Amino acid sequence: MKSGHTVTLKPDADGVLLAAKVLSGGGLVAFPTETVYGLGADARNDTAVAAIFDAKGRPSFNPLIVHVKDLETALKYCVFDKDALKLAKAFWPGAMTLVLPLRPDSGISKLVTAGLDTLGVRVPAGDAVQDLLAAFDGPMAGPSANPSGKISPTTADHVLSGLYGKIDAVLDAGHTSVGVESTIIGCLGRATALRAGGVPFEEIERVLGYQLGGEVVGKAPIAPGQLESHYAPKGHVRLNVTTRAADEELLGFGPVEGAVFNLSHSADLREAAANLFDYLHKFDERGTQKIAVSPIPNEGLGRAINDRLRRAAAPRGD
Ligand code: TXA
Ligand code: MG
Repeated sequence: MKSGHTVTLKPDADGVLLAAKVLSGGGLVAFPTETVYGLGADARNDTAVAAIFDAKGRPSFNPLIVHVKDLETALKYCVFDKDALKLAKAFWPGAMTLVLPLRPDSGISKLVTAGLDTLGVRVPAGDAVQDLLAAFDGPMAGPSANPSGKISPTTADHVLSGLYGKIDAVLDAGHTSVGVESTIIGCLGRATALRAGGVPFEEIERVLGYQLGGEVVGKAPIAPGQLESHYAPKGHVRLNVTTRAADEELLGFGPVEGAVFNLSHSADLREAAANLFDYLHKFDERGTQKIAVSPIPNEGLGRAINDRLRRAAAPRGD
């Protein structure tokens, strides 16, 4: 990216073709998925992958996940055991990333895996991203398309507000449907929960027939997205608030009074997940200094929402 200009592309045949050409040429394209917008580059091209880190200002020890169009393609890059196959068949395309042993001959850039011998891979859902992957016909590295440590983007405008001029293009397909990132499951032996996300752990455990190992919050992370302060809005965030202080603005959940934004009036966790990052962005736009958040039940998608909110509330350097 040299020109300092970012093109917005429609997800029609021309837009998708152009986006695929940018990827093949080593450029950066932000793309919509069902979870959040990703920042895509050819996962085999070291220079292109380096440009992702550069654009995001991301610590380089963080490995990137790779997006592929289907399970068959994923099999070229990773080794799937029985459980991994079960999960892929049950949830792909969808909001689940699997961390799997990397094939030695995969051709994936070492910058993508941060030198690990595993790869995070997923088949995303959504017409625009599926069309893009079909046209590009390769593995696309793609972290969320936000500057490192900032809120993940659920619209093309969010992407542009963080990365305009630092990336070549954004494929604009409107608001993402799920609104939080994918659930990450390690399949290196007994399946392990690495990050709560768009597919609830309970659904994954039902398919596996056993409880996931691992501890998502706290323990030394295998998924280094678990840096403490992350997903941060500019204002200070206080959680589980039933009585708002006078100088706070309320991010509500359920039938609460006086909220500036309400994640879901009817306490629907799906709706809340879809609105979460958008409302955090909106607090930034308002210049809100103190955000109070209503309690959110810690089950199903509520776990992913609470995980993101805890990070948003974590102490930070600035
Ligand atoms: O929904 C999503 O997952 C979005 C969309 C764009 O697909 N992507 C996303 O990527 O959230 P990112 O890079 O922001 O988060 C991926 C997480 C990071 O915490 C990263 O450290 C972890 O996955 N990860 C990637 N490869 C890994 C690996 N081999 N082992 C452990 N963790 C890995
Ligand atoms: Mg991210």
